Amino acid sequence: MPGLSRREVLLGTAGTLSAFAAGGFAASHALAASHALTMSSLNHSILPDTVTKGMMSFSPDGPPPVLRFKQGDKTSIDVTNKLDEASVVHWHGLRIANAMDGVPYLTQHPIEAGQSFRYEFTPPDAGTFWYHPHCNTLEQMARGMTGVMIVEDAEDPGFDRDLPLNIRDFRLGGDGQFINLFKARNAARGGTLGTVSTVNWQVDPVFELDAGSLVRLRLVVTDVTRVGAYEIEGAEAHVIAIDSNPLPAPLPAKDIVLSPGQRADIALRVPDSEGDDVSLILKKKFDQRVLAKFFPRGASARRDLRELKPLTSNPVPEPDLGNAEVLEFVFGWSPEGDAPQPSICGSLGYTFWSINRKAWPGDLPGPFDPLATMKLGKTYVLRLRNETPNAHPIHLHGVSFQLLRSNKRELPPFVTDTALLLSEETMDVALVADNPGDWAFHCHVIEHQKTGLTGFLRIES
Ligand code: C2O
Ligand code: CU
Ligand code: CU
Repeated sequence: MPGLSRREVLLGTAGTLSAFAAGGFAASHALAASHALTMSSLNHSILPDTVTKGMMSFSPDGPPPVLRFKQGDKTSIDVTNKLDEASVVHWHGLRIANAMDGVPYLTQHPIEAGQSFRYEFTPPDAGTFWYHPHCNTLEQMARGMTGVMIVEDAEDPGFDRDLPLNIRDFRLGGDGQFINLFKARNAARGGTLGTVSTVNWQVDPVFELDAGSLVRLRLVVTDVTRVGAYEIEGAEAHVIAIDSNPLPAPLPAKDIVLSPGQRADIALRVPDSEGDDVSLILKKKFDQRVLAKFFPRGASARRDLRELKPLTSNPVPEPDLGNAEVLEFVFGWSPEGDAPQPSICGSLGYTFWSINRKAWPGDLPGPFDPLATMKLGKTYVLRLRNETPNAHPIHLHGVSFQLLRSNKRELPPFVTDTALLLSEETMDVALVADNPGDWAFHCHVIEHQKTGLTGFLRIES
């Protein structure tokens, strides 16, 4: 990022301050047991010298706040819908009670304009999560409603600072105004990419970090479409968790492939000297883009990555593979003739995709049949077969699953809630059906989700 403007530096500093206010030392601030979110429309500046109209957020005056909870502590969130349309909030990755999962009709009535809803839950897992609407999902997310949510570890691993990075694009023209949020011909393929890359709603932000300190970067890809490879350049940095679950061993912070909905926690050792800048890079097919810069400041704190305590693994039950039942899912084109039905949660007007040859008809009262029914406490292997030429990040609500094997590549044994299924790939993942309810199961490229690639799995007690 040559030629930093004064404005960018100022914005970066503002980013630093607000990130600090929202986070800072885990030990040095109290965690609120109750939170409030106001779903709002607003005008906000994303591109220099422009004001983007018609943005949407969980706050009336800026980006969605970073929510912080403590593992195992009960929390409540009062959501007030001040939009002109219905909405609902989903807590992506949290294994909580079905009634609090925030999926229209499947788990609750949409929160209509002017209404409120109180969510209450106790997060069982620590890590990096996020929250977003599940009603008129493409439009509301594309306009800004994607927020970071952090469940702090019961035991502090020893970072000097915690810095959430909400990574996403906006589809803006040069005048800073929204252009068409999607194109149908892209929705039928890989999805429609944004035009402006942001981190915490800032273009090219700069974060000032204490030289020689240890910082936990929480990368959260909240974009509606983009699958990308991320990298930290200019410092010692390790990936310590993916999708809120600690890795068995840290990996270098290079070529971290994240699809929409995925997260990576990175332990960063800030360089000792001012001038030794660090970059967060998004690698593209033919080039790369610097998304954010980190400037070391002050005298070195001389910390060492080996001083960090390893993260404690989350209490996700171990699958009993010897007694597992295999359930098959095929992700494909939509059979001919299905037209989407109108819904108060919106429709993109097309049906392109299907799961097990059925296209999801839209966010409607139903009742609909689950794609599969599982018995509480039993282990299942989900065999995910992609017969399309596009990749699909497959996401399951309410239950975490473990990657087992693929016909295309070596899979790391990660525990996750979102797995990128490559084109023509068949992937086996395993889970223990330990959370009763109807759990949404869909592609997290939102245009795919909203044009058929959605269903749900039932766990019956
Ligand atoms: Cu983050 Cu149903 O999704
Ligand atoms: Cu989810
Ligand atoms: Cu998809």
